[in-house]
Amino acid sequence: MSKLWGGRFTKKPEEWVDEFNASISFDQELVLEDIEGSIAHVKMLKKCGILTESESDQILDGLHVLYGKAEKNELQFSVEYEDIHLNLEKHLIDLIGEVGGKLHTGRSRNDQVATDMHLFLKRRVEEIVKLVEDLQEAIIAQAEANVETIIPGYTHLQRAQPISFAHHLMCYFWMLNRDKERLADSLKRIDISPLGAGALAGTTFPIDREYSAELLGFDACYENSLDAVSDRDFILEFLSNSSIMMTHLSRLAEEMILWSTEEFRFIELDDSFTTGSSIMPQKKNPDMAELVRGKTGRVNGNLISLLTVLKGLPLAYNKDMQEDKEGMFDTVKTVVGSLKIFTGMISTMKVNSEQMKEAVGNDFSNATELADYLATKGIPFRQAHEIVGKLVLYCIEKGCYLKDVSLEEYGEFSSLIEEDIYSILTPYSAVERRKSYGGTGFEQVKVQIGKGKAELKAF
Ligand code: ARG
Repeated sequence: MSKLWGGRFTKKPEEWVDEFNASISFDQELVLEDIEGSIAHVKMLKKCGILTESESDQILDGLHVLYGKAEKNELQFSVEYEDIHLNLEKHLIDLIGEVGGKLHTGRSRNDQVATDMHLFLKRRVEEIVKLVEDLQEAIIAQAEANVETIIPGYTHLQRAQPISFAHHLMCYFWMLNRDKERLADSLKRIDISPLGAGALAGTTFPIDREYSAELLGFDACYENSLDAVSDRDFILEFLSNSSIMMTHLSRLAEEMILWSTEEFRFIELDDSFTTGSSIMPQKKNPDMAELVRGKTGRVNGNLISLLTVLKGLPLAYNKDMQEDKEGMFDTVKTVVGSLKIFTGMISTMKVNSEQMKEAVGNDFSNATELADYLATKGIPFRQAHEIVGKLVLYCIEKGCYLKDVSLEEYGEFSSLIEEDIYSILTPYSAVERRKSYGGTGFEQVKVQIGKGKAELKAF
């Protein structure tokens, strides 16, 4: 078998060298996009009179046969033909004869591969945006059911102030909303056709780039042929957006893992998203959440890999760029899987509101309420802070909480504390009274959920 580029060569690489050079083991993922790109290219060559009607029809028929086979996974590929592009061209020539060799007129693998990647990523990003929406909807549903469920809010993982569980969940809704906006915005830069840029300089054939772009559903054409074949920003941007999103999922994963511990018992994950231990019969491990947290590592790694591949590259195409694919495929797969897992996990988790109530009712997370109470009565906040600090210390020594301190005892610290303090100290009141815009007050949280829903509808 001879190489499709064999003319200039007197020797063939040995098989193990071919093996190192080849990308077919992974770029076959682009098989459908590659054939679609070729179909558009041939239709354009036909329209521009570069191929005759009969030539282009034969090639198109062949490409459609290959497409059908590819859909059924019936095409065999070999490392000898290096990549998906040359493997498909070889298949085409085997199928329809010499005329198949005209497919590559006015085209290079450099604009071809870039076209494939743009098409592929555009579709995947559109898919991912929908999956983000599914997860946002699952979050909204849990939030709506838990507006008045109160948990301790934390800073430094120390109890800080009571908050609505819905408020906590909605925080992730907004993070995901930004992730979704970033992904959707990146489509502007993905939805551009490099086809017709040739190897780097354009072509002498009278091609119509706008026509092939239109056939492929692209919104625009690259303005510069060098840029068309050298640009991998659109992949970097996807990897970067994915890293940020996975970081968000990883933070949520960490919280869900923590909340499902015996120590917290705030939630229980559904059996279908957990696993057991091979030795300890009592265990229910949050493997899926842990895996999402863990897989964030490879997604971040894929971003760093491609940044590093590209940083020293001169224009235009360099073989280094073949390294852009595996990380991108891996990130697509990981992000798609993680989003689906999270949607399932969030919608099936059980919220243990009794346990949350118990936790938040027995801590010092209402200390700010007392300080605010004194400040409202005219004591400078700094002084109020000091008084409450002393009270907390008093309680710790006595082994009680602020709600257990009698009015008489309060009198020792400040004469301004009256009977109404006990209702103010309840977690319910602490949350309810935080009516500031975007705060955790129940009414505000309901407004926020409403805005979230409107946002989903309008997107
Ligand atoms: N397999 C190559 C890649 O993915 C296709 C482009 C090859 N172009 C070339 N001139 N060697 O990057």
